[in-house]
Amino acid sequence: MTALTLSTAAVAGLRADAIVIGVAKSSASKPGGPVVAPGAEAVDQAYDGNLAGVLETLGASGAEGEVTKLPAPAGFKAPLVVAVGLGAQPRENSGYDAEALRKAAGAAARALTGTKKAAFALPLADAADAGAVAEGVLLGAYSFDAYKDKGDAKNGKNGKAPLAEAALLGGKPRDKAYKAAVERAVAVSEELNRARDLINTPPNDLNPEAFAAIAQAAAKEHGIKVQVLDEKALVKGGYGGILGVGAGSASGPRLVKLSYTSSKAKKHLALVGKGITYDSGGISLKPAGHNETMKCDMSGAAAVFAAVVAAARLGLEANVTGWLALAENMPSGSATRPGDVLRMYSGKTVEVLNTDAEGRLVLADALWAASQEKPDAIVDVATLTGAMVLALGSRTFGIMANDDDFRAVVQEAAEEAGEPAWPMPLPEHLRKGMESSTADIANMGERMGGGLVAGLFLREFVGEGITWAHLDIAGPAFNEGGPFGYTPKGGTGSAVRTLVRLAERAAAGELS
Ligand code: BES
Ligand code: MN
Ligand code: ZN
Repeated sequence: MTALTLSTAAVAGLRADAIVIGVAKSSASKPGGPVVAPGAEAVDQAYDGNLAGVLETLGASGAEGEVTKLPAPAGFKAPLVVAVGLGAQPRENSGYDAEALRKAAGAAARALTGTKKAAFALPLADAADAGAVAEGVLLGAYSFDAYKDKGDAKNGKNGKAPLAEAALLGGKPRDKAYKAAVERAVAVSEELNRARDLINTPPNDLNPEAFAAIAQAAAKEHGIKVQVLDEKALVKGGYGGILGVGAGSASGPRLVKLSYTSSKAKKHLALVGKGITYDSGGISLKPAGHNETMKCDMSGAAAVFAAVVAAARLGLEANVTGWLALAENMPSGSATRPGDVLRMYSGKTVEVLNTDAEGRLVLADALWAASQEKPDAIVDVATLTGAMVLALGSRTFGIMANDDDFRAVVQEAAEEAGEPAWPMPLPEHLRKGMESSTADIANMGERMGGGLVAGLFLREFVGEGITWAHLDIAGPAFNEGGPFGYTPKGGTGSAVRTLVRLAERAAAGELS
């Protein structure tokens, strides 16, 4: 990953390959060309105070994500200035929004692929801004090239290495708050990028066993207790949901429990992740066009894994337990059939009407397992339904909960993290559609409101009296479009930063 430092160096004498500055759109009250953001004063002076004019000549407007490259002024050691758009100027007396800084830093880091060292002279009003820029750089510079020939120039951008070094100017390297903000950004971004790697890894290389082994090794490294239930242990424990989904695969399912504990913990947060390493749909096979990206169906488990490790690295004063429900959903002679009834870990029976509604089955067992410890709250994360993508689009995840206040807490955590999220209801009338003539419940209900139906199903497997929220990240987990801001193509690491914020709230005793 990109190496990060806080620096007080003067920009002109800085040995770097590029200087990154911010440029904003002119405000409605003072229309005109683009506006150079604070932090770039010395650069502006070197252009005789006419940097805004130069940028306007080059066609820059300051729009979010816009990147304009220009030669550095005479006397600068760095040869290149990269002006990155911050979008609208902030209102008077307030600084730039952390998310605007994160996105701009990410867009600049992407534009600097193949560059060795860049200095970032973006507007930093406080330590939190430094943390946001650091996150933007580290997340934006991410690339997944494990399967590419790195020596092959024909690979174009993929052949170039990500930005190697970034110096953040305008921060206070000796200030405790700045140092802590950058350290936090490094820990969270490293784990988030690891989650992206797991999501992007092809399913022939990442099956449940391989995922469990990676989680086990990382847990050991960070002093996290880890327990892996293999097929034999799952049979013994009666985990019918996880076993039923994994039954068709040559690679058996796993349930991984990661326990990070702090002696000073006041709260216990349990995180549950859907970890379908490949979702073919099973016997209810997905048609071509719907299965090419289904390696991403373990994004919830990847997010939970990343958040627990990040909590450990940050030494948060909370207990955070992660449950990874890992299985591969495949059709075969041993696969669960539509019409089969599974006896779940909770003891309830489920009639499987559609084997492609598998996420709720593995989550049901993991939610019930998590409930046995009576945590203060459970949050599950899953690429659960196509219906949620239809409802909220490809960048926003849905939040459902059995408690309005807790849903608002999760929503606030997402806002603080800079992740688009929206509250969704759990309408009671939709429960009827899941009535089964054979079992306690069916794994499918009405098609309309399918994301909410899935949420209602999960709710039945949360222990009595336990506060619970469900994040359906089917839209934002995997970016099929081009990269934007600090979000790459492919696995995005959706929900990691929201979960870390929740763990931090738990550490502050403010969970619910
Ligand atoms: N993994 C899919 C949901 C999904 C869809 C994730 C698109 C990411 C992008 C899930 O297991 C699934 O197949 N859900 C079905 C449920 C239905 C059969 C009730 C769906 O949404 O169609
Ligand atoms: Mn499915
Ligand atoms: Zn799935």
